[in-house]
Amino acid sequence: MPLRTFRALALLPFAVLAVPAMAEMSPTRAAELEHMVIQDCGSCHGLTMKGGLGSPLTHEALDGADPGVLATIILDGVPGTAMPPWRPLLTDAEAQWIADYLLQQETDE
Ligand code: HEC
Repeated sequence: MPLRTFRALALLPFAVLAVPAMAEMSPTRAAELEHMVIQDCGSCHGLTMKGGLGSPLTHEALDGADPGVLATIILDGVPGTAMPPWRPLLTDAEAQWIADYLLQQETDE
């Protein structure tokens, strides 16, 4: 086997492992969630997530944040602030998807 082919095969498992959470959502639900992030979350956090009433949610602002912690904030809100709990509208997996989505967004500037 040529060395190059071998290298490509060796990297394959990592490529697959890198996107588990995003891959689990159906494309329809993923599109709905993306719409929700822009419309609903964007109404406070800014359409481009750069902040408004709520803090910026760009991946730079969230850099280093733990996706599990973000998902919990999304589900339970931040008591004493305008950040509402989204648990009535989202499953755990969906909140996790949004957390991963926010962390993976590139801000185009
Ligand atoms: C009614 C306004 C409002 C809406 C709608 C809203 N948020 Fe927030 N959110 C806030 C505010 C205000 C804060 C800042 C709380 C604080 O001061 O710590 C916040 C904080 C957060 C944080 C923590 C950020 C950090 O740096 O600690 C995350 C994550 C977050 N919101 C995600 C979301 C997502 C995802 C949605 C949509 C599903 C959403 N928010 C919708 C007002 C809102």
